[in-house]
Amino acid sequence: MAENKISANPTKETYPLFYLSDPPPSGLGFGFFDSPQKNPIPPPPPVEVFPSDEQLPTKSTAEPISINDTLVLLKGKVSTFDVFGVSNSDLVAGKYEGGLKLWEGSLDLVKTLSSDVREGRLLLKGKRVLELGCGHGLPGIFTCLEGAAAVHFQDFNSEVLRFLTIPNVEVNLSKEEDKKEKCISPDVRFFSGDWSEIHQLLLPPRNDNHKKVTECISAEEDSDGYDVILMAETVYALSSLQSLYELIKKCMRGPSGVVYMAGKKHYFGVGGGTRQFLHILDQDGTMAACLLAEVTDGSSNVREVWKFSLKQA
Ligand SMILES: C[S@@+](CC[C@H](N)C(=O)[O-])C[C@H]1O[C@@H](n2cnc3c(N)ncnc32)[C@H](O)[C@@H]1O
Repeated sequence: MAENKISANPTKETYPLFYLSDPPPSGLGFGFFDSPQKNPIPPPPPVEVFPSDEQLPTKSTAEPISINDTLVLLKGKVSTFDVFGVSNSDLVAGKYEGGLKLWEGSLDLVKTLSSDVREGRLLLKGKRVLELGCGHGLPGIFTCLEGAAAVHFQDFNSEVLRFLTIPNVEVNLSKEEDKKEKCISPDVRFFSGDWSEIHQLLLPPRNDNHKKVTECISAEEDSDGYDVILMAETVYALSSLQSLYELIKKCMRGPSGVVYMAGKKHYFGVGGGTRQFLHILDQDGTMAACLLAEVTDGSSNVREVWKFSLKQA
C-alpha cells in the first residue's frame, strides 16, 4: 500500500482530548460533509481582500482559546446563517466550504507549531508563511506572533476572510501590541479563491527588469514562494486534493520550504483524509513526509499532523 512507503517519525505526541466552544454538528464532527456534493458550480474568482473591507466587529465577542499553559489566542464567532444564509451544518459545494467553524485540526496544528518552535525545530522569525483554507486563521496568527515577516491567509470565501479571519488577526495582534514587548509588523495579506486558481495572486509573475534592480534583495524579502505553508482540515474532499497538492508545490520555497498539514486520517462520507493526500505525495515522489503528531481521543476519528519537505537530491 502506498501509505507504507511514507516514512513516519517514530516520535509521536498524543494530545489529550480538548473541546471547542462550538461542538461539531454531529457524530464525528463533519456531519455536513455527509450530504452528497452536487455538480460543482464555477468557483469564485481569486481576489485579494483588504482589511478595510472588514464588515463585522468581533473585538467585543472574541473568546479566549487556551492552546497550552502559556498560549491563549482569541477567536471570534460568526453565524453561517448570517453570512451565507445556510444552517450551521451545511456545506454548499462551490459556495461555502466550512471556513466559519473552528475545526479541531487547526488547534492541533497550533500546538504542533508551538512545540516545534519551543524545541528549536522550527524558526518562524523573518519567514514567509501561507495558511491555506484558513477559516479563523489561528495557525497563521500564531506565526505572526512568533515574528514571521509575512503571513498570507487564504480561504475559499472572501466573506470568511472579511467577517472572521481579518477581525481575528486584528484582535490577536493588537493584544500583543498592547503588551509592547515585541514589535509585530508582519506583511499580512488575505486572498480568497479556489486552490486551482489562487496561485495567480499568491505568486505574481516575476518582472525581469525589477529582478535586475533588486538583485541584492535578501531571501527573506524575496516574494518568490513561502518558507512555511500551513493547512488544517483541508483534505476532506477527494475532488480537490490534486489541486491542493499542485498549489503547495507551486508555492513552496525550495529547497528549504516546509508544509505543516493537520487533518483527519479519514473523512467518512466524502472519501478524503490525510492518507489520501499522502498517496498523492507518494505518487509524485518529490516530497518527503513525516508524522509529527497523532491525536486520539478515544471517541472520534484519529487526527494527525504531518510535515512535508522537498526530498534532497
Ligand atoms: C473545514 S474548513 C477548515 C477551516 C480551518 N482551517 C479550521 O481548521 O478551522 C476547510 C477550509 O478549506 C477551504 N477550502 C476548501 N476547499 C477549497 C477549495 N477548493 N479552494 C480553496 N479553499 C478551499 C475552505 O475555505 C475552508 O476554510
